[in-house]
Order: sequence, then C-alpha cells, then structure tokens
Amino acid sequence: MIKPNIAQAAQILRKGSLVAFPTETVYGLGADACNEQAINSVFDLKKRPKKHPLIVHIAKSDDLSFWAKDIPEVAYKLARAFWPGPLTLVLNKQSQVSNLLCADQPTIALRIPNHPIALDLLRAFGSGIAAPSANQFTHISPTTAQAVYAEFGDSISVLDGGQCQVGLESTILDVTSGKPCILRPGTISAGQLAQVMGCEVQMADPEEKVPCVPGRHSLHYAPHTPTRLLDPQTLLREVQAQSELPVAVLSHSGLELPEVIHHILMPSSANHYAHDLYDRLRSLDTGQFREILIESVPVGVEWIPIRDRLQKACGDRN
Ligand code: TXA
Ligand code: MG
Repeated sequence: MIKPNIAQAAQILRKGSLVAFPTETVYGLGADACNEQAINSVFDLKKRPKKHPLIVHIAKSDDLSFWAKDIPEVAYKLARAFWPGPLTLVLNKQSQVSNLLCADQPTIALRIPNHPIALDLLRAFGSGIAAPSANQFTHISPTTAQAVYAEFGDSISVLDGGQCQVGLESTILDVTSGKPCILRPGTISAGQLAQVMGCEVQMADPEEKVPCVPGRHSLHYAPHTPTRLLDPQTLLREVQAQSELPVAVLSHSGLELPEVIHHILMPSSANHYAHDLYDRLRSLDTGQFREILIESVPVGVEWIPIRDRLQKACGDRN
C-alpha cells in the first residue's frame, strides 16, 4: 500500500492525482474539487456513472460561500451544531463550480469531516476535496485503509487513519428549499436536525429519482455475495432448510444456530453495530459463502440508517 504523509498527499492532489483518506464515517477517494481531470479520474476509477454528484469536503464554514450561494441561515446553524461531523448539506452551487462535480445539477453537497487526518489534509491542501466513498460503485464503503486497498490496490495512495469511528456514511440534508429534506439517513437523526432548525424535517421519497442519490439505487453498499435481510423466525427456518452449506449469518440477538453455520454476533447497540457493519460484511464477502443472511434490526430511530444500508445491500433479494 502506498502511504504518503500529509504534505505529500496534498502535493499528489495538487498534481491532479487521487488520495484516499479517512473520515469519521468511511474512507473517501479524494480529488481536487476544482480540477475536472481529477474529478474524471474519480468517476473512472470507481466506475461510477457521471450522473451521480460528489460530496466536496471543506476545512471551515467560511469556505461555504466559495462553493454555494443563497445559503440560508439554517445552514449556518446546522454547521455550528454538527460540523465537523457526519452531516452533508446540499445547497445551491456557485456558477464557477464544475458541472461534472455536481452532475449537471444546480446544487452542491458539502461537509466538514470530523477526523484529524482529513482536517490536516484539507488545511495542507488549502481548497475543497471532492471525495465519494473509496469503493467501486455499488460496493461496500471502506472503513479501514486495508479495505480501500482491497478495492483499488496500488492505483491510489492511502492515508491510514485506522478504523472509522462512525462506520456509516453521513446524513445528507437538502436545505435548498424551505422544507429541509433528508436524502440519505445517517447517524445524525431527523430529530436532532429538527431540534437545531426549529422546523420539521422530511424524509426523501425513496421512489423519487431526482436529485440523484446513488445510495437510493435498489442495490448499493452491497457485498458480492447474495445477501438477504430476514426476521428471526424466517432466518432460522432458512438456515434449517439449507441443504448445501455454507451460508453465513449476521445477527445481533444471539440466535441459536446449528454449529456448522458461520455466525457473526453483532453488537446490540446501534452505534457499535454501525461501527462494525461494513468490516464484517467485507470479511464475510471473502468467505466463499453461498449467501449472507442478516437478522432484521430493531425499530428504534437509531437503527434507521442501519436498516437503510442493509436493505440496499440486499437489493431486490428480500
Ligand atoms: O460520509 C460520507 O458522506 C462519505 C465520506 C467520504 O464523506 N462520502 C460519501 O460519498 O458517502 P458518496 O459519493 O459515496 O455518496 C455521496 C452522496 C451520493 O449519494 C450523491 O448522490 C449525493 O451524496 N450527492 C452529492 N451531491 C449531491 C447533490 N448536489 N444533490 C443531492 N445529492 C448529492
Ligand atoms: Mg458511496
């Protein structure tokens, strides 16, 4: 794995090449957000269709007005409350901002990540870094430097910051209209956002395709191994009915399973479950299992982003 230091990583970005770096959510595949050739390489390397815009990471809220215009007061309120942190704000873009970056939409997604290495890199680079999750399009987001390496090998440099603390991608909130709308749920909940904004927050209709959020595709955040999300009774029935092993099971409630079944017991708290999830899915994905069966998760609000990712990991297979 090619591991530069911060100054070298900033220099790589200046030259128009890519650097993967840790954030508190997942690792990002970073490019100079003002360099279209670099942005193009991100789409190429990820095999990501050009209609899916990238998030721009910035070092401080003062930088917002370089990228966005008509910024509502509520955006600054949210920035003060949650940045640096796992919240991405969708705002109207400034006219000089690349249309390639924003997939020809009039809006731009921005956030300040809460990770010392990401912040050091942003300061050393001195401008915005476009960074989608550092994985092939539709695959599981990486939460370790090794996972980035598994996705791209030595084709990019990686800043190694250990395992990401949150483990799920940021909450994306569209504040371009008077009715703020969550485009992707994350660990910052609708309730927390509403409390700071003093108004209701809507949840985007998953059927609505505009604006384009790839996380809202039917298959995303997905292992290569076929994966299903099942209630405990169905899961137990499926396991017993299996004639040709092996299948693997991911559960959080200590289901009693036959010993031959490869079983990962997940933490029972949502935060710890989120922290571990992608790493566990990745390890199961290398295990030559015929199927991964995941026990459905509890109904509390803290499980909403986790259920969202699990459903996307299963695609239409549920
Ligand atoms: O936690 C995160 O958000 C991570 C880390 C690296 O910051 N990044 C991440 O990026 O998850 P990505 O590209 O995998 O997902 C970004 C999401 C996509 O679903 C994209 O469609 C959406 O942000 N997005 C970007 N710009 C947008 C815009 N202008 N309007 C609506 N959605 C936008
Ligand atoms: Mg992604």
